[in-house]
Amino acid sequence: MTRHHRVRRPFSLALLLVAVTALAVPARPANAATYPYQDPTLPVATRVADLLARMTLDEKIGQMTQAERGSVTAADLTTYRLGSILSGGGSAPSPNTATSWADMYDGFQRGALATPLAIPMIYGVDAVHGHNNVVGATIFPHNIGLGATRDPALVQQIGQAVAEEVSGTGVDWDFAPCLCVARDDRWGRTYESFGETPDLPSDMTTLITGLQGPSLGGPTSVLATAKHYLGDGGTAGGDDQGDTRLTEAELRTVHLPPFQAAVQRGVGSVMISYSSWNGVKMHGNRYLITTVLKGELGFTGFVVSDWNGIDQIDGAAGFTAAEVTAAVNAGIDMVMVPAAWKTFISTLRAEVQNGHVPLSRIDDANRRILTKKFELGLFERPYTDRSWTPTVGSVSHRALARQAVRESQVLLKNTGSVLPLARADNKIFVAGRNADNIGNQSGGWTISWQGSSGNITPGTTILQGIRAAVGPTTTVTYNQRGTGIDGSYRAAIAVVGETPYAEGQGDRTGSMSLDREDLRTIATLRNAGVPVIVVLVSGRPMDIATELPRWDALLASWLPGTEGAGVADVLFGAAPTGKLPMTWMNSVSQQPINAGDGQVPLFAQGYGLTY
Ligand code: GLC
Repeated sequence: MTRHHRVRRPFSLALLLVAVTALAVPARPANAATYPYQDPTLPVATRVADLLARMTLDEKIGQMTQAERGSVTAADLTTYRLGSILSGGGSAPSPNTATSWADMYDGFQRGALATPLAIPMIYGVDAVHGHNNVVGATIFPHNIGLGATRDPALVQQIGQAVAEEVSGTGVDWDFAPCLCVARDDRWGRTYESFGETPDLPSDMTTLITGLQGPSLGGPTSVLATAKHYLGDGGTAGGDDQGDTRLTEAELRTVHLPPFQAAVQRGVGSVMISYSSWNGVKMHGNRYLITTVLKGELGFTGFVVSDWNGIDQIDGAAGFTAAEVTAAVNAGIDMVMVPAAWKTFISTLRAEVQNGHVPLSRIDDANRRILTKKFELGLFERPYTDRSWTPTVGSVSHRALARQAVRESQVLLKNTGSVLPLARADNKIFVAGRNADNIGNQSGGWTISWQGSSGNITPGTTILQGIRAAVGPTTTVTYNQRGTGIDGSYRAAIAVVGETPYAEGQGDRTGSMSLDREDLRTIATLRNAGVPVIVVLVSGRPMDIATELPRWDALLASWLPGTEGAGVADVLFGAAPTGKLPMTWMNSVSQQPINAGDGQVPLFAQGYGLTY
């Protein structure tokens, strides 16, 4: 690596100049000697300026490059000066334990610190409802359930708990919260939304404070990410990564407020949406990223692209030099190039050297990234603080999650006050494929990207919660399809709904009704002549209006996560307090249906019964 500038003068003057230069021109740390950027007593801006002055172009481009853990080695971080690593959904070390995550993190960090300037890397994950890539972590309700709680203080506590578990694995950056305003429930990411109106995601930006702390740099401070900027939840037809066709006024009214709230809370990063606004891909939208987000809103953190998001700017596969330039000049500071990171580095270098990307833009991106790394304390504490590792899946975190499950339950029907159920002297039949299935009750982004059915991580199923809630004089019988029920039972609970999905794979283009298996199960229970309580485990409202008259009770449980006992708490007496975060359709033909649009819903946003 060479310094930036060399000067030629007559010999006598040269000696004098060398002496002066040795003092002024920043040298490179030959050893662990303290340079201004390594001095934590100095202001961050001073440290950033000193470090930036020592960096080569390649080191600056490396800081703007984020690669996926499966595509790099620790040695690559050293050789290519990479500034960030991520785990894509479900990308985990083996064995998938908190300790091996911490060992993995520290291994990559050693690679980053072996560079001449020893700039620590920052590691990002999607801990979107707990540290959900890690087996054994506490899995909290997905955002749609947290929106139903209407409890921002609880959500802040959840952020703090997630930050402790994430910190215990070394990771220092969470691609959360999603502040999407989901306007069409057919969207596969509806469950990542706190609600269909901007007030709810805005209120729940308390998650940012929970994750980051009142300011960055605390012992469990994790950089939060407001995502996906801008309008991801407003695409036509709920088409994931589709086109949001709104006037600027509508875009600002519906989708911008949560990001304003996030910026006001000091969110450290913002992730750009795959979607387009009126046909223009967000990843190339300089007006919204630089003029509005960084200028008008005053966002001083850094902007990260989504997974291969820059590839989509021109609509063709892969990325071109023009797309790299468009994205970086639009204001993207760090580019998530999971596998093609070497090509990205060489392409961006060439685009700077040919003048298409000004060095001032590179320096601005680096200042933003380095500022957050200094503020996080990464230069002083680059390795995992293992004192937090035991918090992963801890009793106290699970208790908090159970409280969140309780508060997220929305009671939509309760004919004859069939709920709450008596714990003693009762006879209850439980059915449904979501009754005894941790994977189904957790939904997408759990252990794997798409999530999956089955016993995928430690937790309590809804059935286990029911069994634990009743006394010795009560019988609980379970059969997934309802086989064996008869008139001797006092009540039947059908736990039905959706099975896990994430992103576009969850988009609904046809029916939003329960499937045949669920409908058959409910019919089997109903035909036995006992009251039927439907517990809907789903990532969104479903089209159930025609079935509802035959149900005695309906509880929307959303995607509760590992602590299914929170659902049983409500079934057996905890008064439900949840309120709908989304308008509930009368029919899928109404989609998109939202508060104030003049359509007549089955249940309005804000609806919820209690005992
Ligand atoms: C995904 C998602 C985004 C996530 C990123 C990294 O495609 O769109 O929410 O943070 O990639 O996993």
